Amino acid sequence: MRILITGAAGLLGNAVVRTAEERGHDVRALGRSTLDVTDAGEVDRRLRAEMPEIVVHCAAYTAVDRAEEESHQAMAVNRDGTRNVAMASAQVGATVIYPSTDNVFDGRSDTPYRPDDETSPVSAYGVSKLAGEQVLAMSGCSGIVVRTSWLYGSGGRDFVDVVLERGKRRGSEMTVVDDQVGCPTWTGSLAPGIVDLAESGARGTYHLCDAGQASWLDLARQVAEVAGLDIEFKSTSTLAWGAAAERPPFSVLDCAEVESILSRHMTPWRESLGTYLLEAL
Ligand SMILES: NC(=O)c1ccc[n+]([C@@H]2O[C@H](COP(=O)([O-])OP(=O)(O)OC[C@H]3O[C@@H](n4cnc5c(N)ncnc54)[C@H](OP(=O)(O)O)[C@@H]3O)[C@@H](O)[C@H]2O)c1
Repeated sequence: MRILITGAAGLLGNAVVRTAEERGHDVRALGRSTLDVTDAGEVDRRLRAEMPEIVVHCAAYTAVDRAEEESHQAMAVNRDGTRNVAMASAQVGATVIYPSTDNVFDGRSDTPYRPDDETSPVSAYGVSKLAGEQVLAMSGCSGIVVRTSWLYGSGGRDFVDVVLERGKRRGSEMTVVDDQVGCPTWTGSLAPGIVDLAESGARGTYHLCDAGQASWLDLARQVAEVAGLDIEFKSTSTLAWGAAAERPPFSVLDCAEVESILSRHMTPWRESLGTYLLEAL
């Protein structure tokens, strides 16, 4: 299939490009410098020139805390940029895969979120990503929303990198939030799932992340244990940490529907992390 990837230089974009190329697809990898998704005319021209069957729209404004002060910029990329990609895709008959986020939920549930559960974002970033889902649905293009969470992997800087960097100093300390619970997800698990969905012909909204659940402190401890790092961890609360943006306290995603389509279970997050660290270290 001809697959065009926006935001191809980002954390997820990198992994999707790699997976799609490994599977032998005809890949057009477009980073921000090649395609700015906020430029409607350029998006339209580019899609007409490339005529993709699938667009994996990884371009996004992802600075969760900064978005509280830059909600206009977050909307310009996550809502308006997605509208540009969706409308242009509708014109050329391409299916758009839109990665979205656990941040569309408020996190007050105590059971894993299913794709059709009520959305209620608590941050400007979450509002802008949900707006992207909504414009995709209204655009008339064929679309797949893939909500995921807590990404790490090669080709970007993420929380796992922060722990690894901290561990380079002997006897270092790290204070980590322990009252947010989610699904840490390796881009090396997510990207194959996204390409599988593209190949499956599925349409709709899905949850796709590694299996199980963890707090940020659980994740940090696991990174340190597997990588053999000497870090003394201290736990803190979301309130005491005082980030600019509110986060859902519980944002575990139920992946049953995608597991049924792909006929396989998601990999437990500790197993994925181990595989990643084996490659990365
Ligand atoms: N990271 C996570 O934990 C996580 C969790 C759940 C969902 N997601 C979703 O997964 C998707 C990919 O996220 P990611 O972690 O790969 O983020 P990322 O590393 O920040 O990648 C996003 C890419 O989009 C590019 N971009 C920003 N504005 C653009 C524009 N106007 N035109 C074209 N490209 C633009 C960025 O370029 P610059 O670097 O130059 O700005 C960056 O390369 C996003 O939709 C995000 O909401 C991420």
